[in-house]
Amino acid sequence: AGIAKFTQRMPLAPVLQPYLTTSTTSYYRMTLKEASKEVVPGLTTKLRTFNGSFPGPVIKAESGRRVVVKQTNALDVPTSIHLHGAHVPQDSDGSPMDLIAAKGGSKTYTYPNTQPHANLWFHDHAHHMESENVFRGMTGTYILTDDTERRLGLPSGSYDIPVSLRDARFTDTGELVYEMGDFRHRNVILANGKAWPYFEVAARKYRLRFTNTANQRFFGLSLADGSEIVQIGTDGGLLSAPYRTDTVSISPGERADVVIDFSRYPVGTTIELRNKHVDRDEPANEIGAVLQFRVTRSARDDSVVPTQLRTLPPLPTATVDRSIDMRMDETGAPSSMAYINGKTYDMNRIDTEIAYGATEIWTVHNANQYAPHNFHMHLVQFRVLERNGQAVTEGPETGLKDTVPLKPGETVKIQATFTGYRGTYVYHCHLFDHGAMGMMANMRIS
Ligand code: C2O
Ligand code: CU
Repeated sequence: AGIAKFTQRMPLAPVLQPYLTTSTTSYYRMTLKEASKEVVPGLTTKLRTFNGSFPGPVIKAESGRRVVVKQTNALDVPTSIHLHGAHVPQDSDGSPMDLIAAKGGSKTYTYPNTQPHANLWFHDHAHHMESENVFRGMTGTYILTDDTERRLGLPSGSYDIPVSLRDARFTDTGELVYEMGDFRHRNVILANGKAWPYFEVAARKYRLRFTNTANQRFFGLSLADGSEIVQIGTDGGLLSAPYRTDTVSISPGERADVVIDFSRYPVGTTIELRNKHVDRDEPANEIGAVLQFRVTRSARDDSVVPTQLRTLPPLPTATVDRSIDMRMDETGAPSSMAYINGKTYDMNRIDTEIAYGATEIWTVHNANQYAPHNFHMHLVQFRVLERNGQAVTEGPETGLKDTVPLKPGETVKIQATFTGYRGTYVYHCHLFDHGAMGMMANMRIS
């Protein structure tokens, strides 16, 4: 039905406060619970949330300081909370099988934050449930910062805005409709938990930290006038240098950290952020709009985007090569299965044995004709060496990545070093519906 666009203000995700802070650690608690919110104008939607928040809360963390989060599950489904992109011990990874029992179970996760700054996010990962739990709201933001990032002088404070993007499908009364594998009907775009909101900005630079929290939708974000967006960061933090572009692409799970300079618009201008990504037979016209910026005032701007942002870690020499083949049934049948190297996920099977400390190159191939996928690894930030045989030398894929998109038929070569923790972690397609259909595998680092 016709949902009015740009009538709701885009809210900011609430920043969660620690209940205890020591010299080394900040302690948080969250309750996973149902809540009803106005997502579509004039209607209420029942959601599964962290603390009743939609968009989910933001944790602000600091490299070198530990964060401990106790999650209590008041939902009537089991959950497992994964901090996406984080380098953490196995027992705090929120793996698909490490469940928090429904109706009162709890678990305490410890995040050492030994990695550099990065835009991380957390979400449910309970096997076979993650797709629906995430669709119903279970996502939140985790911003890890450090001195390297802080001293750059990028837009900060109220000019530094996390934005979670996703799609959804609603009934006429505003309730979410979840159907596994559905990509045709999820044609309402939500930004920070509101359908097609507007966001008032001053005529100056803003840092916008986008996370694609959609189950399956890819975004190719561009301003309606095609003007410049400066991408400064990706999954694992800042790029080495800013990348100027008119389209910023994020597949499910990926992050894009960008700066948009609204000083080029006179006060009073409205400018749409649009999704240009089209795959399969999506009704592109219905889903083009994402949100609307309204330039409502002028403001002073001392922020800068330096020409050098960070030094990326060196690439050690790899000693192991592996091939990963991703494929799913393309019949569209509700019982469709999805495979990695010909197998669906089995919690009890170790698919890949990795020697602690090893540096490996994985060649990942999307063997489907129509279905896009992406590839996400727990524990590590990796580097993308090649895409379809071409060396990656510029753009956002030169940065630290934990999730990499693969169009039908595409191949990427990625490199990772498996150090820090031993244990069993998953890798999978981050189109949640595909992961839930079995496109996931276990790697054991020992
Ligand atoms: Cu964002 Cu295995 O997950
Ligand atoms: Cu997939």
